[in-house]
Amino acid sequence: MNRKDSEDLVRVGPGTVMGGLMRQYWLPAAMSSELEPDGAPVRLLLLGEQLIAFRDSSGRVGVMDHRCPHRCASLFLGRNEENGIRCVYHGWKYDVAGNCVDTPNLADPDFKNRIKAKAYRTVERNGLVWVYMGARKKAPPLPEIEATLLPESDVTISFVQRECNWLQALEGDIDTSHFGFLHAGSVAPEDVPDDSLFWHTVANRAPDYHVADTECGTMYAAYREAAPSKTYWRFANFMLPFWTQTPQGKFTEHLHNRAWVPMDDTHTMFVSLTWRRQPPSIGPMKNGRMMPGFTRAFDYLPNESDWYGRWRLRGRPVNDWLVDREAQKTGGNYTGITGIHAQDQAVTESMGAITDHLFEHMAPSDRMIMATRRRLLKAARALAKDKIVPPGVDDPAIMYPVRSGDFVADAKLAWRQAYDRQMQASVRPLQEAAE
Ligand code: FES
Ligand SMILES: [Fe+2]
Repeated sequence: MNRKDSEDLVRVGPGTVMGGLMRQYWLPAAMSSELEPDGAPVRLLLLGEQLIAFRDSSGRVGVMDHRCPHRCASLFLGRNEENGIRCVYHGWKYDVAGNCVDTPNLADPDFKNRIKAKAYRTVERNGLVWVYMGARKKAPPLPEIEATLLPESDVTISFVQRECNWLQALEGDIDTSHFGFLHAGSVAPEDVPDDSLFWHTVANRAPDYHVADTECGTMYAAYREAAPSKTYWRFANFMLPFWTQTPQGKFTEHLHNRAWVPMDDTHTMFVSLTWRRQPPSIGPMKNGRMMPGFTRAFDYLPNESDWYGRWRLRGRPVNDWLVDREAQKTGGNYTGITGIHAQDQAVTESMGAITDHLFEHMAPSDRMIMATRRRLLKAARALAKDKIVPPGVDDPAIMYPVRSGDFVADAKLAWRQAYDRQMQASVRPLQEAAE
């Protein structure tokens, strides 16, 4: 990576190459439950832009620049009432589409028609608020990412803020070999039931890889010999512009999607959607207990109203992620940090607010990461230079039939063949419901 590649990848503000790519897509920005009709506006940081989100009296969601177009007082202080947000400075009022509907400090009733707040298109679906920050007059179709199409009652939605650049955060999801160290480095193969697929991760911590570009991103398969003439596979995906699917889970039922939405260059909102009927990805060890430090739950701080106040975890850079050195030394917890997500968060935040890519030494285990960076740069530069619309914007259906997970298959199957077989056998709750 050279300096230019690195800068093009990490910067997401208006006018940047990557920011341009991301503004092509609908972005998952908040949970529907965060916004109450006529409730307090929420500060929302998205792609480096300071916005407010609010729900009007009729239930519609507005997302707009937080500055009042009059003289820039923050609409965060505004009165959310009677189907609009009213600036408390001189009383100008805006509806969810940004139309100025009242300027009560002016005698001329038509003046308001010359004023428009900078509002973005929003849509709510299945518990998520989506925002389109692009320039098209008619917004592109909504995403068809599988977990986002599930009814709200069938999916667990979680948001978690991460205090670092979006790319290093995302790359944790496509870096399979860390699992046997960061999360399970102190687990010995003899601790794990022999019939558990997890056994392979701790029995052989240095898998081989296949990596390929796909229609909408990149895919890898990590593989290990499982038994004579059997292969243990771990597949994962990256989908433009910031979606992932991880390999830790039974492939045929592993219905989940994860987004790494940049708040700005140094903060990221992780958005996780998981099918409720998906089986647990890791079971107990032979002693009947989970591995030390294992929990999928999030230990949140209370949300606050400032720009960085939403969905923070208790373990943060300022408190060394609550690392417990005793647990690290003698407690069987490789990191000394509790929580799978908290462990990922600690290492990626520890890289610094933005990883210095010129300091890295990429290895063969990082092929997926390298392929994904190339894919991102290619799509972002093709858009910036030749106006080529990136995959999945006008053809969102290509994002639907993508899955990840682990399984054991006949060693004779080539990797894409093994994947296709699993895809055919995968549970599709939406299609089942439709039939
Ligand atoms: S600054 Fe908002 S009405 Fe004047
Ligand atoms: Fe991880």
